[in-house]
Amino acid sequence: MTVPATRASGTTPATRASGTTLEIRGLTVAVEADGANTKEILTGVDLTIRSGETHAIMGPNGSGKSTLAYAIAGHPKYTVTGGTVTLDGEDVLAMSVDERARAGVFLAMQYPVEVPGVSVSNFLRSAATAMRGEAPKLRLWVKEQKEAMSRLEMDPAFSERSVNEGFSGGEKKRHEILQLELLQPKIAVLDETDSGLDVDALRVVSEGINRVRATGDTGVLLITHYTRILNYIKPDFVHVFVKGRIVDQGGPELADELEANGYAKYVGAEGASAGGRALPTGPVLPGPVTTA
Ligand SMILES: Nc1ncnc2c1ncn2[C@@H]1O[C@H](COP(=O)(O)OP(=O)(O)O)[C@@H](O)[C@H]1O
Ligand SMILES: [Mg+2]
Repeated sequence: MTVPATRASGTTPATRASGTTLEIRGLTVAVEADGANTKEILTGVDLTIRSGETHAIMGPNGSGKSTLAYAIAGHPKYTVTGGTVTLDGEDVLAMSVDERARAGVFLAMQYPVEVPGVSVSNFLRSAATAMRGEAPKLRLWVKEQKEAMSRLEMDPAFSERSVNEGFSGGEKKRHEILQLELLQPKIAVLDETDSGLDVDALRVVSEGINRVRATGDTGVLLITHYTRILNYIKPDFVHVFVKGRIVDQGGPELADELEANGYAKYVGAEGASAGGRALPTGPVLPGPVTTA
């Protein structure tokens, strides 16, 4: 007996995943301050990101944006005290850092770390091997990496340098986007990839992000303090982040409003009504969550 093929009109096999969803619900996170002291930074974050969507999280310095990025990636200094993070229903919080990466969660760090003694090419090929489940064929890989570097206007000599060691701010950020392009994660969290970039680097980096976005396979969470990167990358959704949670959200027009008026109306305003705006979907904005 033969199994019937997919219906004549169907171009999508039933086995094909229809996309990826990262779902964050009621996330509260504390950071190890000094010694035994911990400090609650995230106070109840609700956010859903699907592949193909681009979300911008905008908020003042110290509001907890990097803490959110680190908590998603699994940084050991940040303790999840409540809530859930799932990737297509799988419990992300139960995964180790490398399991999260292999599951398709990528973090471009605000301050990328230097790894002396590990060359960019070795680092990238190891990462690609871990992600793809087998080592990419050397010749193909060299070509792939070269082309990706050229698109990001990076000197090929970078491939032999130690990861981030002595890189300028702009070079570090290009290297983050190089990883993004080569590793093709399902969900990419980009923490202030725009900060410290001159206008040329901002354009090159934004074009890289837009290429990844154009594949439709990656959900992008663009964390930023300034609106200028949003001149290059038009988000589908904008979330305003203040004091460890989302206090307002809307479409790209919200970024224009922030550009004009800053965060003043949100800062100092307590409670859910800070923006005075009806949230676009569902009961996404609970009151501040405090965990005893
Ligand atoms: N490792 C840490 N130790 C102590 N305090 C921290 C640590 N990480 C973050 N914080 C504090 O948490 C708050 C939020 O920081 P962060 O997430 O970096 O904000 P943002 O990225 O929005 O600027 C700040 O008050 C910061 O000082
Ligand atoms: Mg930050």
